[in-house]
Amino acid sequence: MINVAILGYGTVGGGVADVLFENAATIGSRVGEELNVKYILDIREFPGDRFEAKITKDFNAILADPEIKVVCETMGGLKPAYDFTKALLEAGKSVCTSNKELVAAHGPELIQIAKDHNCMYLFEASVGGGIPIIRPLLDCLTAEEIDEITGILNGTTNYMLTRMDREGCDYDDVLKQAQEKGYAERNPEADVEGYDACRKIAILASLKYQKTVNYEQIYTEGISKITKEDFDYAGLLNRSIKLLGMCKEIGEKKYAMVAPFLLDEENPLYAVNGVFNGILVHGNMVDNVMFYGRGAGKLPTASAVVSDVVEAAKNQGVASSVIWSAEKLTLNSKDDLEFKYLVRMKGNPAASGFEKIFEDAKELDAEIIAGEYAFVTPVMKEGDFLEKYASLPDAIKFIRVK
Ligand code: HSE
Repeated sequence: MINVAILGYGTVGGGVADVLFENAATIGSRVGEELNVKYILDIREFPGDRFEAKITKDFNAILADPEIKVVCETMGGLKPAYDFTKALLEAGKSVCTSNKELVAAHGPELIQIAKDHNCMYLFEASVGGGIPIIRPLLDCLTAEEIDEITGILNGTTNYMLTRMDREGCDYDDVLKQAQEKGYAERNPEADVEGYDACRKIAILASLKYQKTVNYEQIYTEGISKITKEDFDYAGLLNRSIKLLGMCKEIGEKKYAMVAPFLLDEENPLYAVNGVFNGILVHGNMVDNVMFYGRGAGKLPTASAVVSDVVEAAKNQGVASSVIWSAEKLTLNSKDDLEFKYLVRMKGNPAASGFEKIFEDAKELDAEIIAGEYAFVTPVMKEGDFLEKYASLPDAIKFIRVK
């Protein structure tokens, strides 16, 4: 029997206990030994809960218990998760986490501590919830030069954008509905401003480059300025709007960014709707590989944490093999990247002379809002686009076209 502890009995921690309990026989046969949840750490009381007898407030009891080999950190946040994780790894106990904030901020350090103490720091659930993406990147796509990873990495914003697209909802209404459904937090900033997607693409980019991509270095634009009128323009182009996190390598240059993009049906991510996430990986041999599933939620996220528990339990005494060095990777400016752009303008096209600034731009042939028009630029470097865009006095906004 292998004893396991769970730190944090919230949504994901509760899901981990449920998955280990419900699928105990199958999980046990895969590990080769039964897994037993010995402790669940939480500061709250859970009277009547089926795991009430296992709940403790004493972290040190878990740390000091030699029977505990694997710990699930499902607390979230940096404090005290960072200190607890470090102490557990230093004690040779493997830690499996869903905590993307901690992985993005301290991943390489914690992986190194795990290596030094012959245990593992595993974080499958930190990106894409229940979607297997970390292990496939590290263990399956090993023959590939991966040149691009692009993902819909946030379920809340994808739910909101899908409703705006399909039902013509206003941003504020759909945000309220997302909050009522429990997808968006009362303070929705981390989701709607793209910070959550930014941390997730920082983790994927760090694994791709095997060095640390600091999330603060990644240009991040959320969806809070996207309106239902933008979807009307997108419809004219047979496109939808999706919040994408991407990292891309062109020659020696390395890029990462998060922003809303107009996608057409040819793009596999176009079909990723509602709270689902999708991650498209492009390798030089395999071409496109797509990972799709529930990017959030109790049981899907817990399933990914437990898959790491199985990995750690099967490999006790084996050091983490993840290559993610603490050396910082300097990203190139996104201004080198090339896109088309949808530009919304006030006034009338004849008077503005936009074609002199954007040669070969195509005006959209329909009036969505009185007194407005829009055009799509040819493919151009972001830096060149921004310079020209700044010279348009009547510009309202632009959205990148992928
Ligand atoms: N708030 C996140 C989302 C939860 O909506 O995708 C999963 O990381």
